[in-house]
Amino acid sequence: MFEILEKELLARDIWKYTIAAPEVAKKAQPGQFVVLRLHEQGERIPISISDWDRDAGTITLIVQAVGHTTKRLAEMDAGDHILDLLGPLGKPAVIEPVGTVACVGGGVGTAIIYPEARGHRQIGNRVVTLIGARSREHLFYQEELSAVSERVLVATDDGSCGHHGFVTDLLRQLIDDGLHLDQVIAVGPVPMMQAVSELTKSRGIKTIVSLNPIMVDGTGMCGACRVRVGGAIKFCCIDGPEFDAHEVDFSSLLRRLRLQERSAAGCTSAENGTEGCKSQCHN
Ligand SMILES: Cc1cc2nc3c(=O)[nH]c(=O)nc-3n(C[C@H](O)[C@H](O)[C@H](O)COP(=O)(O)OP(=O)(O)OC[C@H]3O[C@@H](n4cnc5c(N)ncnc54)[C@H](O)[C@@H]3O)c2cc1C
Ligand code: FES
Repeated sequence: MFEILEKELLARDIWKYTIAAPEVAKKAQPGQFVVLRLHEQGERIPISISDWDRDAGTITLIVQAVGHTTKRLAEMDAGDHILDLLGPLGKPAVIEPVGTVACVGGGVGTAIIYPEARGHRQIGNRVVTLIGARSREHLFYQEELSAVSERVLVATDDGSCGHHGFVTDLLRQLIDDGLHLDQVIAVGPVPMMQAVSELTKSRGIKTIVSLNPIMVDGTGMCGACRVRVGGAIKFCCIDGPEFDAHEVDFSSLLRRLRLQERSAAGCTSAENGTEGCKSQCHN
């Protein structure tokens, strides 16, 4: 059992949890995640480790309440316990002296960008961070990211804070203004990572993305998280979650995610991939 020590609302539907997990805290590195299960009948869900305190034996998870388990977690409070928490899983991010790094976070991906930005800053890389959200009320971690970045630029879809538009507009602007980037790291919704990848590929800038396919066991056994990278099948949970963006087949990842979403919504045609579902999802 893993006790929730603190819980804080960071932004709309986005909660920060400090959890007692000394063995995970001891080994956690940027880019890694845990798989948790709230109770005996609960599903296992993967969540990135946003921070850790090895001395206190705690980890920080930042979770957007989007569905069954994440909403149930949002109902839990400090003092409550999570049944299982397995980790750290996945390969750690490769953080090397490269020069100037742009860290691009979209939505809850901002939580995953934070330890990476900090890691790059700690080893002397110049870090510029760009974060995007639907609106001001969905933004979080600006202060934390400012502490580890030379500058933080913000974009919101509705223009309520920062640039009115997408975070990729900001990245394009930075590059067009002449900032030399040695590496870009992008974490967020798949279409956003795909857009970043297309932009940087055309400019020849090495880019890393952290992929978020549906996961079941998180240990390479079930095959649920398979993605196509560089023409080969990879399991995101053990080969990733970080990959060279320019090698990722985003179209097949998007297709798979949509099929899984429709399947979860009870859309029977999702199983065979046909269009025109007649069940409740009305797709
Ligand atoms: C390596 C990894 C790290 C992640 N880190 C974080 C994190 O730090 N914070 C965070 O809030 N979320 C993170 N996620 C996404 C998180 O796992 C899903 O939001 C969660 O599994 C949804 O579970 P649920 O039961 O609440 O939703 P469900 O009821 O299962 O589904 C609700 C909706 O979310 C979609 N969904 C389910 N799983 C995923 C997924 N893996 N990616 C995208 N959409 C999904 C479903 O298709 C459905 O549309 C991560 C995912 C991966 C693979
Ligand atoms: S989640 Fe089962 S193989 Fe990756």
